[in-house]
Amino acid sequence: MAFAASQIVRGFSSSAVRNVVIKNVTIIGGGQMGAGIAQVAASTGHSVTLVDTSDDILKKSIKLIEGSLKRVAKKKFSDKPEAGEEFIKKIVQKVSTSTDAESAVQGSDLVVEAIVENLKIKQDLFSRLDKLAPSHTIFASNTSSLSICDIASSTNRQDRFGGLHFFNPVAMMKLVEVIGTPATSQDTLDSLLDFSKVLGKTPVSCKDTSGFIVNRLLVPCMMEAIRLYERGVCTCCFYSSFKHPSSFSLIPLTLLIFCFSNLSGDASKEDIDIGMKLGAGYPMGPFELADYVGLDIVKAVIEAFKTKDPKNPLFDSSDLLNKLVAEGKLGIKTGEGFYKHK
Ligand code: NAI
Repeated sequence: MAFAASQIVRGFSSSAVRNVVIKNVTIIGGGQMGAGIAQVAASTGHSVTLVDTSDDILKKSIKLIEGSLKRVAKKKFSDKPEAGEEFIKKIVQKVSTSTDAESAVQGSDLVVEAIVENLKIKQDLFSRLDKLAPSHTIFASNTSSLSICDIASSTNRQDRFGGLHFFNPVAMMKLVEVIGTPATSQDTLDSLLDFSKVLGKTPVSCKDTSGFIVNRLLVPCMMEAIRLYERGVCTCCFYSSFKHPSSFSLIPLTLLIFCFSNLSGDASKEDIDIGMKLGAGYPMGPFELADYVGLDIVKAVIEAFKTKDPKNPLFDSSDLLNKLVAEGKLGIKTGEGFYKHK
């Protein structure tokens, strides 16, 4: 059975939604994340409607799903290519596409938003959908950096609103962060946790705090790596000497001499990546990861953190990152970021 036994409707009304059996899922945004979420939802037996702004984009989304499923089928049915084709067909058939979000949500148990990382645009979308989605429908955002509370405030269903934060590539990454705001009901959280498990993921719960668990730790690490590369001086001296002059005297003299003598000997991005892979056991170095995630996303995330906590130096912007984004060098998706990608 595709649906876990725990997902039993205990009866719901518009005011008190009990654990909703999530069968029909609408995913808004058919980019990297939306297509991935659509793939895993369809693969686990859900009926999926994938929404984006144009048919051309949606065709690309379906191609992304097919490409990813082909890799799965190649492994799973290595000696039976026809069974592999059938496997792909069955899953893709579970995904319908639409450019009309308002109609798409009308038969939905769950709406997962994975559109551009912009608060106003997300709020506008949810505000429109709130008027048309059935009362039991749960809304969830896949935002990496924005406050779920802020997004949910555009609706009248804050008890049925949470964060469902998937990781890239969705088909491969086991983790989902399930985010509850103070207004999110326990039943909504339970439904989102159950849904994540049905997708074959491992959910973790987190309050609505900047970056949730993983990005709060990972994105400042990427920014520190970029600063280390662009600045050419170790971070302890930089912060102490330039940001907090009063603590300058606390740095041991030997460390200062070492650091400033290395002003021109900064680490290359390649060496930083190797360092973090071999020294910290990361599967990807911070520059490889930034290119993979998308430099526009990294920039948007750190800016959102900064808005919430302007004094935290870990959330400072980077000239180099800003320059690459302005030049359209966004990483793998545009063919170039910190590295060139064929
Ligand atoms: P993307 O740029 O690949 O895709 C976004 C899609 O949304 C595009 O196809 C765009 O046409 C569509 N879109 C924009 N406005 C729309 C609207 N009003 N209605 C319908 N479709 C609309 O972005 P990506 O990487 O998939 O990210 C989407 C969301 O997921 C963002 O909130 C991001 O922060 C979050 N996220 C991204 C991760 C990543 O590694 N890229 C990881 C986890 C979360």
